[in-house]
Amino acid sequence: MKLAIVAYGDPVLKKKGAEISKEYPELDQLIENMFETMYAANGVGLAAPQIGLPIRLFVIDISDSDEPGCENFKKVFINAQILEESGKLWDFNEGCLSIPDVREDVKRLDTVKISYYDEQFNHHEDTFQGLAARVIQHEYDHIEGKLFTDKLSPLKRAMIKSRLDAISRGAVKVGYKMKFPSVSKKR
Ligand code: NI
Repeated sequence: MKLAIVAYGDPVLKKKGAEISKEYPELDQLIENMFETMYAANGVGLAAPQIGLPIRLFVIDISDSDEPGCENFKKVFINAQILEESGKLWDFNEGCLSIPDVREDVKRLDTVKISYYDEQFNHHEDTFQGLAARVIQHEYDHIEGKLFTDKLSPLKRAMIKSRLDAISRGAVKVGYKMKFPSVSKKR
């Protein structure tokens, strides 16, 4: 089942996600729905706060990418904790399903060491680099209540403010189902 993706401005996107247990209700179904929602929106990652749930869960599928380290990369991250970020800072043009049609360069370190549980609640401690690290860092920010727009310079943020406000009001054309926090009453 496809879920509605929460748009920029919804308070749930600012909440730090809570850890979940194996007994979280209908977890398998939730994970399946998140993948289905992400694919339908042509995304490569989706975090639970983006479908309105402030919990530490995100899904990633970058297996279509030719970048090294992305082969068969379809993963579920539960209760993730970044242990270390290292390497070089690099720019990547990021976008977000909660912020349609906005893309900006964001600087992040290129290597991330992360602890997480998979969908069977097996524990992992892995190190990722390049694009895989980048997508993990973006989704991890979501479960920490952060968005890529928080990482932009004040000037850049000021330049895109009206577009962000328009997204919150639902004044944006988007090819997937969204939930807008402050839809104009005049429509
Ligand atoms: Ni995002």
